[in-house]
Amino acid sequence: MHSAAQWQSVLERMVWRMRGQGNMGPLMKEMMAGVEAPSEAEVAALGNYLRKHAQREIDPKHPALQSGAGQMYSLACSQCHALPDPQQHSAGEWPGVVKRMQGHMAWATTIVGVRELRTNPELNTAEIVRLLQRHARR
Ligand code: HEC
Repeated sequence: MHSAAQWQSVLERMVWRMRGQGNMGPLMKEMMAGVEAPSEAEVAALGNYLRKHAQREIDPKHPALQSGAGQMYSLACSQCHALPDPQQHSAGEWPGVVKRMQGHMAWATTIVGVRELRTNPELNTAEIVRLLQRHARR
């Protein structure tokens, strides 16, 4: 989900917590249930893995962001992670990725069930998919 730069600070923060040093140190220690925090060598291996598979962020000056659809893309798709570079998928792959994201969004922000209780209008992703496909990997 995060860019390579963001992963580094997330990793450091979480290892710090696993070592019982956060504001909820004792509680975190208990939650670790006897599992040891990673060693320095393990932290380095985790860092390499996370950097290698990190989210590739779109250049903020990318032409795709200059339109109305680009603004919608930027608002909708940067809520949980770095705004993805459209080049990381082909036009054929993007609809499936966006469909999976809709699932994450429904899970994270929507009260499901009876219509009167639903809090969020559903995001119309058709325009976002078209934008991603226009700038997708060839
Ligand atoms: C509610 C949170 C949330 C929102 C909003 C969200 N994502 Fe994601 N995204 C995730 C999670 C969680 C993952 C990692 C799990 C996965 O890949 O399904 C992820 C991973 C990704 C990845 C990397 C994995 C892959 O298949 O390449 C891409 C690309 C991506 N999201 C694109 C988008 C796009 C485009 C949008 C806007 C339509 C979006 N995301 C909005 C939660 C979200």
